[in-house]
Amino acid sequence: MALAVTRPPEVAMPSPFRCSELCRAMRPSPIRELFKLTQRPGMISFAGGLPDPAIFPVQQFAACAEALASRGTVALQYGPTEGYGELVAVLQELMRGPLGRSPSAAEILVASGSQQVMDLAGRVLLDRGDIVVVEAPTYPGALHTFRNCGAGFATVPCDGDGMQVDLLPDILQQCRRTTGRLPKLIYTITNFSNPSGACLATARRQQLAEIAERWGIPVFEDDPYGELRHSGEPLPTIFSLTPWPGVLYASSFSKILAPGVRVAWVVGDATLVRAMAIAKQGVDLCTSMVSQVLVAEYCRRGHLLAHLEAIRAHYARKSALMATALRQHLPAGAASWHEPQGGFFFWLELAATDSRSLFHRAVENGVAFLPGDAFFPEPGETVVGSCDGSHFARLCFTFASGEEIDEGCRRLALSLAKS
Ligand SMILES: Cc1ncc(COP(=O)(O)O)c(C=O)c1O
Repeated sequence: MALAVTRPPEVAMPSPFRCSELCRAMRPSPIRELFKLTQRPGMISFAGGLPDPAIFPVQQFAACAEALASRGTVALQYGPTEGYGELVAVLQELMRGPLGRSPSAAEILVASGSQQVMDLAGRVLLDRGDIVVVEAPTYPGALHTFRNCGAGFATVPCDGDGMQVDLLPDILQQCRRTTGRLPKLIYTITNFSNPSGACLATARRQQLAEIAERWGIPVFEDDPYGELRHSGEPLPTIFSLTPWPGVLYASSFSKILAPGVRVAWVVGDATLVRAMAIAKQGVDLCTSMVSQVLVAEYCRRGHLLAHLEAIRAHYARKSALMATALRQHLPAGAASWHEPQGGFFFWLELAATDSRSLFHRAVENGVAFLPGDAFFPEPGETVVGSCDGSHFARLCFTFASGEEIDEGCRRLALSLAKS
């Protein structure tokens, strides 16, 4: 399968530059592009998946800068590609619960955001024309990164319990029939998925691990939201459910502390992690040591666990506010949704409205969200599965203030009523 180049390059290069094949296939992130429209004055934004800056631990984090006095020469120097030793030790401890054991240092790689983890995994696992299995809907940043590797997609539909794993064997067969090969990777967001807010049910996690092992296809378990559960019981990670080394687990400080630190990590088979570290040497040499020293100090002082308690309660309130506002304002039968038990998002299924046109009406009315089609691969790059996101809308409940959540849902209802 060739790269799915369905239109002229987005970036027309001036002479003497000539686009690479990758550049011709690239397209701007739909989220980042729509984001520009959401910056107008007075706009209430449910669009970006942003944490609430009001709850950033600014003072505590600033106090951690004291660590620069004692560790400044380390912080200001290049560091190991694998990650700053003190931070790796913090992660070994942090992962003991979710992964069921403390991973060895050789199984951990610190990265500049989990977006980079995806990029590194793509670099070491994917060749042009390979297929990645993704949930439909899924995180556009993952599509973007795997697309950059020349990959195509097979999609697995989701319901309120996440990926419908029982459909997976048939989808794998179809991939083999239509392309002559099996997918190289299965990408899944197991907790409070971006965008659907769904958690993959435990039985499905087990089943996914079994199918992946049986078919020999590695799993990328992307879990930046797992610690943000505000109701219900935590579910075991896929990583913890199988001794099979084919599961790569990634998480990030972006949603649990602050995205500005650009610090994330991946845990997996030591040989694969080593390959990713070698790939990272050619990308950024190392993740910012200043950031890693500050994050390690923040965790070493015991702030992270207290902060997690605070943000879970804070986001529980905001999620409840959005649930109430949606119930109160949206016209009856106009949309349906599952109330999330954590994470950042409500995922609305619209009864009779195209979400792109709703988006433009909503922006006129002063509220922004993300239309569903951003969360599906394009038909031209999908070898198995369907791609229609036109009746969905993602609403982020964490960023807007309480009053804005209510007013934003009222404006959304107004836009729906005009459809
Ligand atoms: C599912 C998912 N994975 C990865 C990322 C990227 O996070 P990071 O800031 O760690 O690069 C995001 C960001 O929104 C996300 O929603």
